[in-house]
Amino acid sequence: MTEQMKSLEEYKASYKRSVEDPEGFWEDQAKTFHWHKPWDTVLKWNFNEPKIEWFQGGKLNITENCLDRHIASRGDQVAILWEANDPDQPSEAITYRQLLERVCQCANALKSLGIQKGDRVVLYMPMVPELAVAVLACARLGAIHSVVFAGFSAQALADRVNDASAKMIICSDFNNRGNKVIPVKAVIDEAMKKGCPSIEHILVHKNSDKDMALSDHEHWWHDTVDVQSTTCPAEVMDAEDMLFILYTSGSTGKPKGVVHTCGGYMVYTCYTFRNAFQYQDGDIYWCTADIGWITGHSYIVYGPLLAGATTMMFEGVPTYPDYGRFWQIVEKHKVNQFYTAPTAIRALMAAGDDIPAAYDLSTLKVLGSVGEPINEEAWNWYNSHIGKGKAPIIDTWWQTETGGIMITPLPGITDTKPTYASYPMPGIQTVFVDAEGNELEGNDIEGLLCIKFPWPSILRTTYGDHERCRQTYFSTFEGLYFTGDGARRDAEGRIRVIGRVDDVINVSGHRMGTAEVENAIDEHPNVIEAAVVGYPHNIKGQGIYAYVIVEPTDKSEATLTNEIRDVVNREIGPIAKPDKIQIVPGLPKTRSGKIMRRILRKIASNEMDSLGDISTLLNPEVVAEITKGALT
Ligand code: WTA
Repeated sequence: MTEQMKSLEEYKASYKRSVEDPEGFWEDQAKTFHWHKPWDTVLKWNFNEPKIEWFQGGKLNITENCLDRHIASRGDQVAILWEANDPDQPSEAITYRQLLERVCQCANALKSLGIQKGDRVVLYMPMVPELAVAVLACARLGAIHSVVFAGFSAQALADRVNDASAKMIICSDFNNRGNKVIPVKAVIDEAMKKGCPSIEHILVHKNSDKDMALSDHEHWWHDTVDVQSTTCPAEVMDAEDMLFILYTSGSTGKPKGVVHTCGGYMVYTCYTFRNAFQYQDGDIYWCTADIGWITGHSYIVYGPLLAGATTMMFEGVPTYPDYGRFWQIVEKHKVNQFYTAPTAIRALMAAGDDIPAAYDLSTLKVLGSVGEPINEEAWNWYNSHIGKGKAPIIDTWWQTETGGIMITPLPGITDTKPTYASYPMPGIQTVFVDAEGNELEGNDIEGLLCIKFPWPSILRTTYGDHERCRQTYFSTFEGLYFTGDGARRDAEGRIRVIGRVDDVINVSGHRMGTAEVENAIDEHPNVIEAAVVGYPHNIKGQGIYAYVIVEPTDKSEATLTNEIRDVVNREIGPIAKPDKIQIVPGLPKTRSGKIMRRILRKIASNEMDSLGDISTLLNPEVVAEITKGALT
C-alpha cells in the first residue's frame, strides 16, 4: 500500500521530499502496486507542449490492482456496498471476490461484442453496481471508458459519443431517482436517431420490471454478461496508455474530453484516498457523488478499491423519501467517512436541525466536501450537526483535470479552518500569480492558482485535440498549469479557493460553461443573442442567469422563457436550465463588440451600485434598461 501519513511531522517530511526528490517520492509509492514490468523512467515532462509521462515503460492493469491483488487478503470483504433508491429494497454487498468475477464476466461479454484494447465505450447509467462493474470491465480489456452523467440530454450524449467515436454504449433501461422513474434507454434511442455512426452495439442493463423490445445490435445485460466465464485475463497496459476520457465544460466551445492514463492515475488516486480520508481497514466509506463525474471515478471506484476499502454506492437522492435519507443511510451502514458536496449540505441544512438529530451519526470520523467553495455557515453546520465537532472536515479542492485531490486538510493531522481547503498534498507545488503572471510570494495574498510541477494524475491531453489542452491549461502562464481558479493564501499558508476566474460557473457542484449554455439558448428560433452569467444562489452556490435578445414576436414573455428552458433541457439537460431568464433590448458591449460580462454579473448579483465605469461602452444606455428589468 502507498504511504499513509499519521502525523504533522510525517506530512511535513513527505511534502519536503516530494518537492526535493519528486521522482524518488512517487517511485516509492508506485512500487507498492502490482506491475508486470517496472518502468524505464519515472518522469519525463515539459509543460510547453505539454508532454507528461509518468512511469513510462511500466506495464500494468489497474483492475488487477483494484481486485485480483486483494483476493488473497480480503476476498470475502465487501468491496461495494450498494444502497437502493427505495429504502425498503435490500442493500447489496459485493465482496472483492464477487466483484472480480462480475467484472470478468462483463469484460468477456464486451470482448464477445468485439471490444478490444483502445476502443472507446460510453457508459450512460444510473448509480447501480453494474456501472462500477462496467467501468472496471473496460479497464480490464484496456478499452477506454467515457462515462456520461445520466442526466445529460440525447444531444449532449450524441456529442460525446461522436467526439470519441465510441464503438459501444452501455446503459440501463430506466433510472430510479426519488419518486421518479426516468427513461434511460429512450435517451439512447434519441441519440442514435441524431446520428452516432460509430456505435456497433448497445448493452442494456435491466433496472425495472417494464418490458422493452431490443433490436438486433442491442443486447440485454442478463443475457449477455451473466452467461460468461468468471475469469478474464487482464490486458497488459503501458503506464501511459489511456484509461478513460471524461468530458468537462470549459470557458469556450463544447465540453472537452479530459484524458487520464493508467499508471499515474492509479498511484495518485490510491495515495490521496488513503491520506485524505485516513481510511482504516474495516471502515465504511461513502462518497455521495455520481460516477458520471470525476469524484465518482476517483473516489467511489478507483481510489477506494485500489486501497482495498469498502466503498458505498447510493442509487437515489438525498431528499427521498425525505430529507433524512443521507443520515438514515449513515446510521444503517455505520458509515465512517462521508464525502459530499456543499450544495447538498446547504439543502439539508435548510431542512432543519431536527432531521439529522434523529439519527445515530456517531460512527462518522471524517467529513468531506468537494466540488465548490463551502461557505462558512454550511461548514459550521456540517461540523456541529453532522460531525458533532468530532469529525474533522476535509474541504478537498481539485478538478477533473487533476484526477485526484490536490489541496485538503489531513484529518487529525493538519488543522482545519472554515472555508479553507488548507494545505497541498505531497507532490503538489502550488503557485499564486497576478494577472500578468508574476509570482506572488509569501503569505496573506490573493491571486490566480497555478501548479508548477507535474503530479502523477495530471491530465495528459484533451481527446482528439491536443492543442486545445495546451491552450486551455498551459498557455496562460508560461511553464505553469493554470487551474482557472482564484484563491487566497492566509498568513499561515492555508489556501482558500474562491472560485473560477474564467467563464465557467459552478451550479450545485456541476461545472458549466456559460458559452455552452448560450449556444444552447441560441438554438431557439426567436433568439438573436444570449449572454449567460452566474450569480450567488443560497443552495446551489451559483445560479444561472440568462440575458436574451429576441426578435419581435407575438409570443408572451412567459412562453418564450419556457421555450428557452426547454431548448436548454434538450441541448444539454436539466442541470443547465437557467434559473432566471431576462428578455433584454440589447447587451452591453465594448467598442470592439465584446459583451461586458462583468456588468451583467453585477446586475445578476444585485450589485447595481458598483457597476463601474460604463461610459466606454458602445451602448451605455442599455445598462439602465437591463437594470430596470433585472430579476433580482
Ligand atoms: C471547483 C470537481 C472550492 C473549482 C472535483 C474547480 C472547488 C472546479 C472545490 C472543478 C473546493 C472543486 N473549494 N472550489 N473544495 N472543489 N472546486 O472538474 O472551481 O467538476 O476548478 O471537479 O470546482 O470542478 P470539477
